[in-house]
Amino acid sequence: MNVFDVFQQRRSIRKYLQKPIEFDKLSLILQAGSFAPSAGNLQDYRFIVVSKKSLIKGIAAECTEQYWIAEAPVLIVVCADAEMTERYYGLRGQRLYSVQNCAAAIQNMMLAAHALDLGTCWVGSFNEDYIKDTLSIPEKVRPQAILTIGYPDEVPSEKEFEPLEHLIYFNAYGSKIENVGTLLKEYSKEVERLIKEKEPEIREGTEKIKHKLKHAFREARESLKKLKK
Ligand SMILES: Cc1cc2nc3c(=O)[nH]c(=O)nc-3n(C[C@H](O)[C@H](O)[C@H](O)COP(=O)(O)O)c2cc1C
Repeated sequence: MNVFDVFQQRRSIRKYLQKPIEFDKLSLILQAGSFAPSAGNLQDYRFIVVSKKSLIKGIAAECTEQYWIAEAPVLIVVCADAEMTERYYGLRGQRLYSVQNCAAAIQNMMLAAHALDLGTCWVGSFNEDYIKDTLSIPEKVRPQAILTIGYPDEVPSEKEFEPLEHLIYFNAYGSKIENVGTLLKEYSKEVERLIKEKEPEIREGTEKIKHKLKHAFREARESLKKLKK
């Protein structure tokens, strides 16, 4: 699977087969997480692998009652141990960098899982105190997200992607350039735009062709009649 296919095809999976995950695959996913960039290369992310069914069930109830989580064979709770990050970078390190470091690790793991035919979902809605108590997470460490992992038992609906031209500015926030679709090689969008722009001319051209065809058919019919006589 090419890396761009992985980016485009990965979707959140919330229904899992009751099939265990091979340890080798889990290990590759965790390695992918550890390869993530981090501010000052401090690698302050920590991963708690939760595989005990009773723990997973309890956690599901404390994720704002998202009970589908209970069916995931494995959870990875991604935590930020931001002590060093704060020491090096102050409040910005604690509040921003450590969160971003974890987010990069989470994304790496999700993409790795997809490449290994596994499904994941990033869960951000959970009772932080419960997660900390249940998993003996120290006071200074903050759980950032729970990643559910398992073999998918659903095919998610098609996802609409925001057009790149809505997301991208050039040189200043809000600054767009004309025909950005061509520049970004979004040719289908560009063709769509051109068709819309030229719609009146296309309609007029179509009417002219229709008229000409009608005339040609009439002439052909009359010639045929003459031949029959
Ligand atoms: C920070 C964050 C928190 C999220 N929290 C939840 C969550 O609590 N429950 C859930 O089902 N999905 C959660 N998601 C998944 C998003 O709903 C999902 O990524 C989004 O709908 C796009 O769909 P896709 O992942 O299939 O591309 C979260 C995603 C992010 C990035």
